[in-house]
Amino acid sequence: MPRTPVIIDTDPGQDDAFAILLALGAPELEVLGLTTVAGNMGLAQTTDNARRIVELAGHGDLAVHAGAPRPLLRAPRPVPEIHGDTGIDGWDWAPARQGPAEGHAVDFLVRTVMGHPEPVTLIVLGPQTNIAMALRRAPEMVDNIARIVFMGGGYFEGGNMTPAAEYNILVDPEAARIVLGAGVPVTAVPLDCTHAACAPVNWSATLAAHGGEVMLACAGMMEFFERYGNAKYGTASRPLHDAVAVAALIWPELFEGRLCPVDVECAGELTTGMTVVDWLRQTGKPDNCLWLNGCTDPAELYRRIETALLRLRAPH
Ligand code: RIB
Ligand code: CA
Repeated sequence: MPRTPVIIDTDPGQDDAFAILLALGAPELEVLGLTTVAGNMGLAQTTDNARRIVELAGHGDLAVHAGAPRPLLRAPRPVPEIHGDTGIDGWDWAPARQGPAEGHAVDFLVRTVMGHPEPVTLIVLGPQTNIAMALRRAPEMVDNIARIVFMGGGYFEGGNMTPAAEYNILVDPEAARIVLGAGVPVTAVPLDCTHAACAPVNWSATLAAHGGEVMLACAGMMEFFERYGNAKYGTASRPLHDAVAVAALIWPELFEGRLCPVDVECAGELTTGMTVVDWLRQTGKPDNCLWLNGCTDPAELYRRIETALLRLRAPH
């Protein structure tokens, strides 16, 4: 089976952790490396978290390159109230054995994309600062980007940080606008999609029943992640937003959406960070984004995620 080469840009976060583990357990993907960005937590913490996650999965050899410590123009907005003090609370993580790889994430992105023998897919799971910086640094890299798949935005579902804005886009709206204007195929996995792809109720117990360090860590993170979200939304289960984004790349048949023009509000007093989706194509602007707004079978989606996670073995 031909494997899709990907780079994962991330700000772990429990849902980022599930996304990374899913990607490492999926035979459909070849993970070339991870790049980290300030988002859910500060850069040092998201980078250390990414190292802990790849080492947990037995992929300690995978390069993790640290990137932007803050958004292009705005102040960082860490959210420990959502993800806990470590950003990946819910499990007693072993300290990372290795630090980040030498070299800035932006240099790794440009070098790896430009040098890969086939087009590379970028999976973007946090504020899009690193990707925007890479595209500005080397616009020619677009010639070897197969697709950018990002978790972010919301239109029919509104926002999760303000009534209009979802977290990843709100933190760095200018970066998201650069990415959407890059002229490469883009798939958006917004709240419109992830809210239709919630995990089964009490899924953490299903994961824990498998035993083993990877599944017990996932169970603990899931339980922690659900606590905040269920209290905020009054629900019984939560979507693993970033894992849904990786799943949309691996199993597009489980998702629905529409190619349409999408832009980002960067100046609105009430709407900064809003993804403005021209669903009815009223602006006459070019279609620049496949905007996903549905999941056809959430139960099957999480069964497939569970199967991928079970392929991973902690090294110790
Ligand atoms: O709004 C959800 C997104 O913001 C996810 O990527 C989560 O990890 C946070 O970064
Ligand atoms: Ca994230």
